[in-house]
Amino acid sequence: MDLVEKDNIMNTIRIDLERPIATIDRNIFGGFLEHFGRAVYGGVYEPGSPLADEQGLRTDVLNALRRLKFSNIRYPGGNFVSGYRWRDGIGPIDQRPARPELAWHTVETNHFGTDEFIQFCRQIDSEPYLVVNCGDGDMREARDWVEYCNGTADTALVKLRRANGFEAPHRVKYWGVGNEVDGHWQIGYKTPQEYARAYTEFAKTMRWVDPEIKLLAAAFCHWEHNIVERTQLLLEQAGDLIDYLSVHWYVGNREDDFLKYMTLSELLEARLTATEGLIDALKLDNAIQRDIAIAVDEWNISYRPHVQGGVHLPEENYNLEDALVIAMHLNAFIRHARSVKMANIAQIVNSIAPIFTREDGLFLETIFYPFELFSQHCGPTALDVFWQGDTFSGGTFSGVRVLDVSATLDEARRQMTVFVVNRSPDQALETTISLTTGAFAGPVTARVVNGPDIKAVNGFETPDGVVTRETMLNAQGRAWTYAFEPHSVTALTCAVS
Ligand code: AHR
Repeated sequence: MDLVEKDNIMNTIRIDLERPIATIDRNIFGGFLEHFGRAVYGGVYEPGSPLADEQGLRTDVLNALRRLKFSNIRYPGGNFVSGYRWRDGIGPIDQRPARPELAWHTVETNHFGTDEFIQFCRQIDSEPYLVVNCGDGDMREARDWVEYCNGTADTALVKLRRANGFEAPHRVKYWGVGNEVDGHWQIGYKTPQEYARAYTEFAKTMRWVDPEIKLLAAAFCHWEHNIVERTQLLLEQAGDLIDYLSVHWYVGNREDDFLKYMTLSELLEARLTATEGLIDALKLDNAIQRDIAIAVDEWNISYRPHVQGGVHLPEENYNLEDALVIAMHLNAFIRHARSVKMANIAQIVNSIAPIFTREDGLFLETIFYPFELFSQHCGPTALDVFWQGDTFSGGTFSGVRVLDVSATLDEARRQMTVFVVNRSPDQALETTISLTTGAFAGPVTARVVNGPDIKAVNGFETPDGVVTRETMLNAQGRAWTYAFEPHSVTALTCAVS
């Protein structure tokens, strides 16, 4: 990479411990489980497998998922939900109907459904987040699902849940209304007007059933069409019924152009800033006082061919450059902690996911490691960071800083963690990290995700192509220097006074 020296400015990261951006919502470490490919069956759920527990859940998968500390899991779709009947997936498993499934053109056995999903979430200590069918489903079905899950009165649906073995309510807090309704591939595509209207009525009745629930409106996933109109109609008509505005995106290195791929940080910034601005302006315009947060409740890298032998099997084998892009996303979510209150990597197992299974085990994809790094070491507060230094050009961008940075503070432990992606494919970047208030107070743990080259992958034969390595260092005073390895993601967890 030809780095551009900026007037001989050293690579510098400057942090003021007393300059917080916002509290980081743990829900930015959300996941997504859809009935799609081998995500559910053969992924999290495989009754009869020697690796499964008594509920049919794969214990090796549960253990790997626990390392990712998902705060919430979105379910059951995705495109799948727009043709889903939740009642098909409850009660005795052998009596559940198999149905043709039109999102992915398979047959859904319904052996895994609401109650199995809730048990799965409890096993990995995640909050369940359910999406209701706003495709070919109606609002009665949606509010009945809320009642089945959360109801406490002696109603028929609550009795049904109890009869199915669940005396206590599931207390599902997060409810999405529909999925990617702006896409023509969706069962029950909706115009901006149709969705704003449907959302208002679905949300109103769902909240009447349980006033405590948090509601997500499926604003848009089509970034080049109607995003203003869709958001405007939703906030005008249902401003008091929206807790989160949901947006989606998937990215990829379609042209096999590493530098262009690395400039994706600019697109992420542009999208988050635009969505924040839209919400802020429409809140003013409509005198909406309540908080409306952004939920990027599907995001990931998805671009490799998905059809294998005529079957839609979205099983990507991620490489190191993909891992850098995952870290750039998490940096962006931290920098936008004021507005991004939920984000769900799509998905969690096998289908475009950090974990890949076969009958006798699993391996961890490269993208597992940056997600684990951030989820485990992110502090509760996002800090404002200034950084400058070498730049590069890629795609239509120039002057992009080679380092991509965010920082968090754990005030109670007096620990600061700085997350840095070095996007240079071949150069270590010596960088001065300085504090404008406070000082480094000794121990620093450096955790580095890296591999031999940007195309390195993991697999059953080479499970450790890309992994995280840990080193103990020491830093004192106001500033110290660290060399970020080429093509790496680094988390520096530093004691500070
Ligand atoms: O995650 C796979 C699919 O991508 C989801 O079902 C859909 O919402 C998106 O288009």
